[in-house]
Amino acid sequence: MTSAGDRYHKRTTDEVTNFIKKLELQALETAEERLPLYLKVGVKDARLILDVGCGSGFVTRDIARLTKGRVIAVDGSAQLLQVAHTTMRTYPNTSICTADAQRLPFHDNTFDLVTCNLLLMWVDTPQAVVCEMARVVRPNGKVLASLEPDYGGKIHWPENPKVDVLFSGEAIRKKGGDPHIGRKLRTFFVNAGLDTTIGIGNNRIWSCEEDKQYYLHSRDFYIKVLQDAGLSQREIDAWEFEFLKSLDDGVQLNFFPQFYAIGIKPKS
Ligand SMILES: C[S@@+](CC[C@H](N)C(=O)[O-])C[C@H]1O[C@@H](n2cnc3c(N)ncnc32)[C@H](O)[C@@H]1O
Repeated sequence: MTSAGDRYHKRTTDEVTNFIKKLELQALETAEERLPLYLKVGVKDARLILDVGCGSGFVTRDIARLTKGRVIAVDGSAQLLQVAHTTMRTYPNTSICTADAQRLPFHDNTFDLVTCNLLLMWVDTPQAVVCEMARVVRPNGKVLASLEPDYGGKIHWPENPKVDVLFSGEAIRKKGGDPHIGRKLRTFFVNAGLDTTIGIGNNRIWSCEEDKQYYLHSRDFYIKVLQDAGLSQREIDAWEFEFLKSLDDGVQLNFFPQFYAIGIKPKS
């Protein structure tokens, strides 16, 4: 791994432990948005499912719990797949393999269902990945991309003009992600030849307690973003004080839309 971070998950060695914790917390917090989508695309009856960009496997585990079918989980990062092995070890209907989502090592028309969660935002060529997912799903099978955010739609109160701009996209872009992936999903799915439905999966606004827990888990990341953007320690301390106070007072609101796309492969 380079100091710039793993080529796939884009975190440095120092950041990776926290990143894995964040993925676990995120999987818990977003279960109520993702599980209805899995049911909607027929996870229960699917016999062969592929989860692309499974990371540490917390989300794949949710899929495995909902089906009697076989779930194959792939990711480019060998380091995260090691964690996924542990996460999924008690789920005999799962298998794991290393693969680049841009060149999936499977034959055309193999899977009943192909899923990805929070992946397209982080890949170099999202269109190529969606085309690969469409290639390996069988005719009439479904492709689901879930929790792809669009920080252009972020609503945050109380405001802090200097800091809000960083967390409404800039920080993600600096990390190598696309903060506006949500609005592009329809284009990627339609271009891949899929009959496409788009929606926003999150309609619940997190409580201040949930937001605070999430912040405390990711605090190092937030502080580093502010430092990298050139804020002084005094400015960072003042922002953090106000931010935590608004959470403790129960008045803070933070929302950004997380899109999903469901594509059905035509029978040709
Ligand atoms: C934000 S994580 C999401 C992990 C998991 N889907 C979840 O929701 O917990 C993004 C994942 O995509 C993987 N990834 C990024 N680019 C990839 C690529 N080209 N091929 C395979 N995996 C990739 C990363 O290694 C990382 O595990």
